[in-house]
Amino acid sequence: MSAGEAQPPAVTPAEHDAMARAVRLAATALGHTSPNPVVGCVLLARDGSPVGEGYHRGAGQPHAEVEALRAAGARARGATAVVTLEPCAHQGRTGPCAEALLHAGVARVVYAVDDPTPQAGGGAARLRAAGVQVVGGVLREEAERGNELWLTAARHGRPCVTWKFAGTLDGRTAAADGTSRWITGSAARADGHVLRATHDAVLVGSGTLRSDDPHLGLRHGVTGRPPLRVVLDRTGGIRREARVLDDAAPTVVVVAEGARLPLLPHGHEVLALPCDAQGIDVAELMAELYRRGLRSVLLEGGAKLAAAFARRGLLDRTVAYLAPMFLGAGGRAVLDDFGAMSLAQGLRFRFGEMHQLGDDMRLVLRTAPQPAAEAR
Ligand SMILES: NC(=O)c1ccc[n+]([C@@H]2O[C@H](COP(=O)([O-])OP(=O)(O)OC[C@H]3O[C@@H](n4cnc5c(N)ncnc54)[C@H](OP(=O)(O)O)[C@@H]3O)[C@@H](O)[C@H]2O)c1
Repeated sequence: MSAGEAQPPAVTPAEHDAMARAVRLAATALGHTSPNPVVGCVLLARDGSPVGEGYHRGAGQPHAEVEALRAAGARARGATAVVTLEPCAHQGRTGPCAEALLHAGVARVVYAVDDPTPQAGGGAARLRAAGVQVVGGVLREEAERGNELWLTAARHGRPCVTWKFAGTLDGRTAAADGTSRWITGSAARADGHVLRATHDAVLVGSGTLRSDDPHLGLRHGVTGRPPLRVVLDRTGGIRREARVLDDAAPTVVVVAEGARLPLLPHGHEVLALPCDAQGIDVAELMAELYRRGLRSVLLEGGAKLAAAFARRGLLDRTVAYLAPMFLGAGGRAVLDDFGAMSLAQGLRFRFGEMHQLGDDMRLVLRTAPQPAAEAR
């Protein structure tokens, strides 16, 4: 805020509580809204009592503000809209929320996070210009966290990449003989399926495909929309009987341009992409998935593929399940060589949430926030 500009009106306890509720509402749709964000909205009457609420359920469905306005009906006039993301100002598949709020006669808007996209941003300015009181940044951190996959994708113009691994305390992901099942216990493995359900795609390299024959679907009682399964298999050697080619979800097998194209069962796809000595161009793969509307990918192995993403600076978050065991130098490292020759070239993260799951530890690591918002 520049000098001389009026201070924003203080946020009331009711608005603060409503924002916490809106963040929880938004989280209900995590994993279902791509290419859109998760958004929650609560409408408060002048006395602070809630008169309507809603959340965005998925692309093509009403935005959170519109759901809340519908629930409130005539009670929206003069109300305060509390919303986790700056109301959009653009005409997409549904109309601009800033206009819907104005049309309903909302007097005040309290939001958490600025919309970083050039096409949807600007809603706050539009509302202010029309005489609505607008306060941004309320519970920003909580709302950012709830929407971090989409916000990271919007800022970088590619899907947010979460690298997930199960390892020992000495950073080994498999024993010398290649066995890796199971390093962690059932609680950690079940949590890995919850993680899958919140991502648009799950990726593995052909090394993991050959050694583990993973299914990459949702199990352990986790329901929801199964993620797109993506396998990087330069030479197209995947077997038709591979579990990842069952009909639980579509699978994309990524091969090098010019490679022989494997014949896949119906419902699955071969995608040919440029390749160099180090493998398939993972930045090009991210660009292609983004073009298809995917906003988050879960990288599930193995060490070589993770190193390819590290080399290109494409790891945004890490979820590590650490077992209280050691395998020693004979075990396989969780991360292959990605070119770090000095401490300065190491891959540094900041610790996020940490908690114990059964006998294991679950750690979330994040890269430092990017300074400038890049347009998508
Ligand atoms: N504990 C865990 O969380 C966990 C998770 C997953 C895997 N694992 C273990 O990890 C081991 C497999 O890992 P891995 O490192 O050998 O194999 P990987 O990373 O799964 O796959 C590497 C292979 O993928 C293909 N590829 C295509 N493009 C690539 C690119 N840009 N960068 C890297 N690879 C690319 C290459 O094979 P082509 O040339 O044939 O295409 C490459 O050899 C297994 O023992 C498995 O059990 C453990």
